[in-house]
Amino acid sequence: MSYIRKLAILPLLLLLSSCNGQDEVQQQTQFRIQSGHDLSILTTTDTHYLSQSLRDLGPAFTRFLAAGDGKQLGYSNEMMEALGYDIGVRKPDAVIISGDLTNNGEKASHKDLAKHLRQIEQDTGTRVYVIPGNHDIQNPWARRFKDQHQYSTDSVTAKEFRKIYGPFGYDEALLTDEDSLSYLAAPSDDLWLLMLDTAQYGNNKELGNPQLDGRVRASTLKWIDKCGEMAAASGAQIVAVMHHSLLDHSDFIQEGFTVNDNAEVIDALLRNGIRTTFSGHIHIQDISEYQQDGESIYDIADSALSVYPHQYGLLNYSSANQTLDYSTAKLGMEQWAAASGSTDDNLLHFNTYSEANFTKRSASRSYSRLSEDPAYASYTDAERKAMADVVGRLNEIYFAGTGSTDNAAVIASEGYRLWQSAPAGGTRSYVLGLSAREPKNNHQLHVQLPER
Ligand SMILES: [Fe+2]
Repeated sequence: MSYIRKLAILPLLLLLSSCNGQDEVQQQTQFRIQSGHDLSILTTTDTHYLSQSLRDLGPAFTRFLAAGDGKQLGYSNEMMEALGYDIGVRKPDAVIISGDLTNNGEKASHKDLAKHLRQIEQDTGTRVYVIPGNHDIQNPWARRFKDQHQYSTDSVTAKEFRKIYGPFGYDEALLTDEDSLSYLAAPSDDLWLLMLDTAQYGNNKELGNPQLDGRVRASTLKWIDKCGEMAAASGAQIVAVMHHSLLDHSDFIQEGFTVNDNAEVIDALLRNGIRTTFSGHIHIQDISEYQQDGESIYDIADSALSVYPHQYGLLNYSSANQTLDYSTAKLGMEQWAAASGSTDDNLLHFNTYSEANFTKRSASRSYSRLSEDPAYASYTDAERKAMADVVGRLNEIYFAGTGSTDNAAVIASEGYRLWQSAPAGGTRSYVLGLSAREPKNNHQLHVQLPER
């Protein structure tokens, strides 16, 4: 079944909740995949796009990159081109980006990213749906980089975000929330997307930083019930998408990452038949499951597209079986670079380049700490290097979500043996904690949806 044949132009009488609080009925014409057809969605997050107009390749930008967490901000344009290339090859019906669209909410980054998304929709026929993350709106950290200095630059308000991304979800919403940038969208008759805005940007100016933690307001929880009722009346399934985690994904990082009062959000989703959520924020590839009254709900945290291993999710909805199947794939940066005639070695060998960049970063920080810590004064330099390499490698595996297959080789290494007998401390606990995690598959999931 071709993409075009699955589509039908349906004049829909849609009930929209207006911004002034009054419901209004609005006639819209929408493209949707008809009932009874399968649906494929590419899920990605934390693109952290930085407009090329906001940086040179001078010392200020280089220092910012070196102090960061591995985001490949110097290749933002290429990353979106490569994503467009992959979408052209894979032809998903829809694309979801679950927040932290930009580096730090720069207006120029939002505008340039929207141009890329428009191009992707035009070139491939797919439909893109976005929500904001904690970095995207009223961010006091918005910066441009020139020569030796960083300079403040404009961020966006919630209203501006809604306008810039109108074509990517908001303008085609079935229902919008009055108290957040949440909306309900229907890429197909049978599978709808509950796009939840969990970011809190109102206090960012006073805080001087983007607020890390997320929440769903009580009024938005009630709005979710309206969405659930609407979907049930139409016989549609819902998948939820939010920036913050619905469920804990890490033994080490939870505060500010799992959405506040997540029990209430879980209740709201489960009572509306929602069993699957997609999130970002934590930059770790991880699938968590929670059971309540015999029902499971899953939170699939896609790792950040901007960070090694630059992977995204692929979700397939089967109409006949009422199932969801999730898997992951690596961004085809090298394939795109070759196809577009790039002569940049970093792009042509992007996996090696970005992996080394990511792993060496945590290894060299760990090596510095070990070298300065008197507790490790009796260790040789070679031993400290071997131990630091273990930290770098385990960290890489942790973020890629491949511990079940890749931890064994690290545990067999001399550097790991040295950590086992090392003096007690934070890094030793981190190393032993990472290697002791229960193996699980963070790259595949099969979900049987509830009856509709
Ligand atoms: Fe992020």
